[in-house]
Amino acid sequence: FAPKWFSGHAVLVTAGPTYEPLDPVRVLTNLSSGKMGYALAQAFAQAGAAVTLVSGPVSLPTPLGVTRVDVTTAEQMRAAVLERVSGHRIFASVAAVADYRPARVSPQKIKKGAERLTLELVRNPDILAEVAALPEPPWCIGFAAESENLDEYAERKRREKGLQLVVGNLVQEAMGRDENTVVLYDENGRIPLPTADKAQVAWGIVRHVARRLGLIDTA
Ligand code: C5P
Repeated sequence: FAPKWFSGHAVLVTAGPTYEPLDPVRVLTNLSSGKMGYALAQAFAQAGAAVTLVSGPVSLPTPLGVTRVDVTTAEQMRAAVLERVSGHRIFASVAAVADYRPARVSPQKIKKGAERLTLELVRNPDILAEVAALPEPPWCIGFAAESENLDEYAERKRREKGLQLVVGNLVQEAMGRDENTVVLYDENGRIPLPTADKAQVAWGIVRHVARRLGLIDTA
């Protein structure tokens, strides 16, 4: 039994890493299994939302009832999100988007030979910041995976990007694992959630959002 708090609401979720190509066989990426984003997409769908999941390359099955759009690069993810975001009540940016991409993509495989190779990188767009700055933005949820100073970095991210909620975790406690320990940061402060598998953590996030949006009235 799942309470249908979000029926009639559309939710857009990004998940997984992005791949930034260097040549036809090599990419720069972030280590991200996509598990947290997929669990969140599934929980919102079970709570009655119409969920679209824009996914980087992962090896996970599409959650039941979720519409999945596959992308590879950050620029493709940005285009897929901006094309679809209007009309969505919530945008949950769980993807580990690569902050930089190679300035040039070699059309042919780069051959070894030189003792040193220097890569030039250029900044990728910040998809979440861009969505939060739209004239009529959805309710924006960001994720902060940090290796230290979680409270400070997560709260700063929330304020700087103009987000309603940041879900923070320490990478040491989350990456590739089935369990996660997260802290929610919103305008009212910090709320630690109990350590649990990612499906249960996703439910904790969905319940928190439902309360904040006034979709349930339990305290
Ligand atoms: O600033 P930082 O990358 O740590 O912020 C993480 C949050 O921003 C995540 O929610 C992530 O999905 C989002 N993000 C994004 N586009 C980027 C980088 C991060 O949407 N280029």
